[in-house]
Amino acid sequence: MRVLVTGGAGYIGSHAVVALQQAGHEIVVVDNLCHSSAAVLPRIEALSGKKIDFVAADLNDKFALERIFSRFDIDAVMHFAALKAVNESRAQAARFYHNNVGGTLCLLEVMEKFHCKRLVFSSSAVVYGIEQSPPFFEHMPLKAQNPYGHTKVMSEQILKDMAAADGEWHVIALRYCNPIGAHPSGTIGEAADTVPNNLLPYVAKVACGQLPLLKVFGGDYETVDGTGVRDFVHVMDLAEGHCRALDKLAELEGFHAVNLGTGKGVSVLELITTFEQVCQRPVAYQIAPRREGDIPAFWADVQLAEQLLQWRSKRDLRQMLEDAWRWQCANPYGYMPAESKN
Ligand code: NAD
Ligand code: WQD
Repeated sequence: MRVLVTGGAGYIGSHAVVALQQAGHEIVVVDNLCHSSAAVLPRIEALSGKKIDFVAADLNDKFALERIFSRFDIDAVMHFAALKAVNESRAQAARFYHNNVGGTLCLLEVMEKFHCKRLVFSSSAVVYGIEQSPPFFEHMPLKAQNPYGHTKVMSEQILKDMAAADGEWHVIALRYCNPIGAHPSGTIGEAADTVPNNLLPYVAKVACGQLPLLKVFGGDYETVDGTGVRDFVHVMDLAEGHCRALDKLAELEGFHAVNLGTGKGVSVLELITTFEQVCQRPVAYQIAPRREGDIPAFWADVQLAEQLLQWRSKRDLRQMLEDAWRWQCANPYGYMPAESKN
């Protein structure tokens, strides 16, 4: 198939592109590079041995999207492009709605115009309400806690409504848990922000000396050791999940939401301890107050992914952390050369 990958220069998209190319698909990437670097593209090509057709454009630029669909015969779309920083979304709600919901609408309108109605959408575990207890099932009521989360709930609703109105749509919304890790080559991975929001990139930057200390948000939760619990999933497992979803799109009519996770919870302290074993050095941390809006524990029920997609995660926590550390050591400043950081 020829697949249009929006946000394909980003963290999860870049890993998915490698997996899709290795599975034999032709890939067109559209990305405005607002949270990524074009330097990832030759690295993806080196891993897959195949060329990428790259278009630098914004999803809200309808004419640019129409030009892509006119130029390439697109069979299906994988839609990763979105802004994702939860805190930023609280401060810049309109920007997030415009980018994530507006961008999705613009994409859908162009897809309809060109009769391309097969879509895999990047949703998130952030759509689940925090009052519920794990494991989280796809049928649970959705209740986001922040504007970013609302953009995912709204996008899912739009997709559901479109699929209900027009039986030609085939849509799978994949609700990722907490993606971590990197390609085992260490050449592509998560180009973290200077001060990351998420746990693992923060831990990695403390381990390599770029940040002095990790604050562990909350040590008094009712969990195995008092710290938060999450369902961390290897980004390569996610990439493979996307390939499975693409394979299944043709036979799955309408809209389907599917969790992608391991189905197991890991505590923040467990992750730190395992990371220390992997990098063979201590990671300085201190217990700090709980972070606003955090859920104590999250892990997903992953049976639907097995039933519908015949997919399950294969890589364990140690492998996630080994791959993340290899990437961090080889690319201490992501895709930016180290000298440009001085
Ligand atoms: P990322 O920021 O690394 O990648 C997103 C990519 O989209 C970037 O390359 C960015 O430049 C591009 N982009 C953003 N807005 C765009 C626009 N309007 N037009 C064109 N390109 C645009 O993020 P990621 O971690 O790879 O996330 C990919 C998707 O998965 C997102 O939809 C995100 O919400 C979702 N998701 C991520 C996580 C996570 O923890 N990383 C968890 C659940 C869901
Ligand atoms: C994990 C655990 C923190 C940083 C977020 C988004 C979610 C999804 C995935 C996109 C929690 C603790 C963290 C730190 C810490 N993204 N922590 N110190 O909050 O589960 O989910 O990323 O869809 O939408 O909300 O991930 O990595 O931020 O936190 O103690 O410096 O690590 O409190 O318990 P989260 P996270």
